[in-house]
Amino acid sequence: MTRTINDKVRDRLILLHGLITKPRIGFLVRKFGGMISEIQAYYLYHLAKKRPGVILDIGSHSGLSAVILSLSGNKVFAFEWFKGLSLASEFDPNFAGKEKNYITSKNTFLENIGKVSKRAEIELVEGDCTKTIPALINSKRLQSFSVAFIDLDLYHPTKETIESLLSISRGNEKIVIHDQAANGIQKAVEEIVRNHSVAIEREWPILTLNVLSKPKHG
Ligand SMILES: C[S@@+](CC[C@H](N)C(=O)[O-])C[C@H]1O[C@@H](n2cnc3c(N)ncnc32)[C@H](O)[C@@H]1O
Repeated sequence: MTRTINDKVRDRLILLHGLITKPRIGFLVRKFGGMISEIQAYYLYHLAKKRPGVILDIGSHSGLSAVILSLSGNKVFAFEWFKGLSLASEFDPNFAGKEKNYITSKNTFLENIGKVSKRAEIELVEGDCTKTIPALINSKRLQSFSVAFIDLDLYHPTKETIESLLSISRGNEKIVIHDQAANGIQKAVEEIVRNHSVAIEREWPILTLNVLSKPKHG
């Protein structure tokens, strides 16, 4: 994708704005040693702050992205199974043999969340998110969301998760997907855009995130 001067300026502005208004975010990124970058953290925080509603953090690992999103003041559902990545498919060649990558424990997750803020309203939903999200939707505990951050690295769980979320999308939500460059993520996003009335709103050059939105009444 061609990177315009506007893209560069916008990315710099986000970073600068974040540094001025939320210096704590940079500290948290370094402290947690999580898997999102500082600029991604600022972007997620500002996106959630602008969008009141339920926030979904899908693939929470030791809690960094969930904590950053919760600083917006919104309720966050954090989805994690504490088993690391699932089996890579033929569409995820760069993840072959990396099933056990990113294993963490529930204790680490809870400790991290507790350390940062007692007020943080983060509800852990433990288990396979391709099952727990549909279950939450069926039980009507999850009927809408404003921002979802998906960080599952692989084709199948990512595509299934986006499809579940689109089933309750009313339009104007933001679905942010990490690891833009991974083959399986690219394929999942391309197929979603092709088969649903969903647009890639922006592919951020420095952020390396896909941002999907379903236009209202789309
Ligand atoms: C790259 S890490 C997430 C990093 C995290 N967002 C952060 O800010 O540091 C991916 C996480 O997704 C989790 N995961 C993968 N597949 C899952 C599934 N089907 N259900 C729930 N969690 C899953 C893994 O256990 C791992 O902790």
